[in-house]
Amino acid sequence: MHKKKPNTAIVTGASSGVGLHTTVALVTRGWHVVMACRNLAKARSALEALGVPLEKVTVLEIDLSDLQSVRGFAKAFDSTGLTLHSLICNAAVYQPQSKEAKRSAQGYEISVATNHLGHFLLSRLLLGALQKSTQPQPRLITLGSVTVKAEEFIEQLPFSARANLGDLAGLQAGFLAPVAMIDGHDFNAGKAYKDSKLCSMLMNREFHRRYHASTGIVFNTLYPGCAADSALLRDTSPLYQTLFTWYQKNIAQAYVSQQLAGERVAQLVDDPAFSISGMHWSWGKRQQPGQAAFAQSLSSNARDLARSEQLWALSEKLVGLA
Ligand SMILES: NC(=O)c1ccc[n+]([C@@H]2O[C@H](COP(=O)([O-])OP(=O)(O)OC[C@H]3O[C@@H](n4cnc5c(N)ncnc54)[C@H](OP(=O)(O)O)[C@@H]3O)[C@@H](O)[C@H]2O)c1
Repeated sequence: MHKKKPNTAIVTGASSGVGLHTTVALVTRGWHVVMACRNLAKARSALEALGVPLEKVTVLEIDLSDLQSVRGFAKAFDSTGLTLHSLICNAAVYQPQSKEAKRSAQGYEISVATNHLGHFLLSRLLLGALQKSTQPQPRLITLGSVTVKAEEFIEQLPFSARANLGDLAGLQAGFLAPVAMIDGHDFNAGKAYKDSKLCSMLMNREFHRRYHASTGIVFNTLYPGCAADSALLRDTSPLYQTLFTWYQKNIAQAYVSQQLAGERVAQLVDDPAFSISGMHWSWGKRQQPGQAAFAQSLSSNARDLARSEQLWALSEKLVGLA
């Protein structure tokens, strides 16, 4: 009997944490996963340690902070001959201890370059490939962050630097040194991460507005809960990591295991219940498996249409698409 080919998803940053567990959850659901990683050996051994056979995946190199590498990845994916059903923009760096901006190969601040610009370029380059897949409905899923929800308690604390793109003066100025922040203000590493996630969420909405009706691609973001013990906090002190995890488990009650977070991403990729486009998904009582997902409204800075259009045009310039 002729065996049906598995559906294919690309997961960026699949070598650890949420991306790794999304890979496992998708493979368990019968998908073939292209693990888009900067460290191929790490990706392979992380997967093997979880007992997943390597033939269920293709491991391809990408450095999302480097636009040339992103273009190289898109070409390499094309030459695999695989049909793309889903792209999951998951990779991220968070370096809140940095006092000075680190720079990407193109000279941009590293967290905005990796989390936003790299994924923006990748999504644009793979849009045609996604569009070609009609069964199942193609999906482009982006990992958001709760930190761009101004209503969240932790964002109300006076020491919290909130995501705020200002009038995009830093991007307009070309985003090269000495400019290090999107709003053109002084460098703040924690805020740079939040800004980058806000950009990704704004761009996902903008993709939906521009392309959903004409392509049928479903564009969604999610916050699966706080996988506080993932490697995302690797730049912070062990004491901070312990306290943060304790806070998320016991006070915020937002803690989720990396496995549960990965399962939730896989749901957005694979379940018919998540076929509406242009949504941001979150989960009630986040810690508990089996909790229902709900579409969450975003704060005004993540719904600003004029800002979105301006950000799209400036991002196109910075990644060389305009
Ligand atoms: N952890 C949370 O509580 C939480 C909550 C909400 C949203 N998120 C989001 O979930 C996503 C995954 O985070 P995580 O918690 O799983 O963190 P993680 O374990 O640190 O995973 C991040 C992944 O991104 C990869 N990566 C970093 N820079 C890259 C680059 N330049 N090119 C290619 N890959 C790169 C890392 O690769 P290496 O293995 O080579 O370092 C790693 O595979 C992020 O988008 C994050 O913002 C996390």
